[in-house]
Amino acid sequence: MLKSIIKVKTQNILKLDKQKIINYLENDKIVIIKKIISKKLCNSITKYLTNISHNTIPNYFPIRIGSPNNFRVNLEDQRAMVKGSFYQFSFFPWNQDVFNFFKLFKNVFIFKNRINMLSDEEFFYPKSDKECAIRLSFQFYPKKTGFLNQHQDPVDYHQKYLMIMNLSKKGKDFQKGGLFSVIGKKKIMIDNFSEVGDLIFFKADIPHGVELIDPKSSPNLLEDKGRWMALFATNKLPKNNRIKNSVEKKS
Ligand SMILES: [Fe+2]
Repeated sequence: MLKSIIKVKTQNILKLDKQKIINYLENDKIVIIKKIISKKLCNSITKYLTNISHNTIPNYFPIRIGSPNNFRVNLEDQRAMVKGSFYQFSFFPWNQDVFNFFKLFKNVFIFKNRINMLSDEEFFYPKSDKECAIRLSFQFYPKKTGFLNQHQDPVDYHQKYLMIMNLSKKGKDFQKGGLFSVIGKKKIMIDNFSEVGDLIFFKADIPHGVELIDPKSSPNLLEDKGRWMALFATNKLPKNNRIKNSVEKKS
């Protein structure tokens, strides 16, 4: 096991020792909380999202209060702050969805707020576009084309640590590439150490990205082969001028 990776098991995320997790993260460790939801549930989520991607025309919606849940594709979009190629499915707490995601993952968002030293339901119900909002973002990186360039996310009052859930298994769903971070001068392929349903935390300003998934496979846009993940995001709303944008950082 790599020194940079700490694995934690729990039945109830809110019973974890918050300070211990913060100490690990402050020491540039990657913390993996094992299997917060079952593989079966992960598979039904990715199946549902795959059906959406096959049967819906993608569309872009800005993140603001009242935005609809939506499916979009980012195929190296020049307007994106960080260059990447992936599908994205955004869910907001003010919309209802068939999985009732914000009930299912309520404790995960609360735990994220707690380690970021915020009140439990901070950003759950923003009242103005000058604030921030929580968002559940599922992302699919197709084989051959899926990647996200190395970047750093802003550390500010809204979040210091990022939280990602793995929905694919490297070695089974895809063979090469995947989530990485760079700590010191070492590139850590995080997906080599995590399973479906695991929650991954690290400091937002640690350089990270998604290395091209299976570059030698045949392209399969409109297929469901590749890497799935969920991001428990805290996003600034359009009139929030306090928080900076993410920045690409060349390796
Ligand atoms: Fe990021």
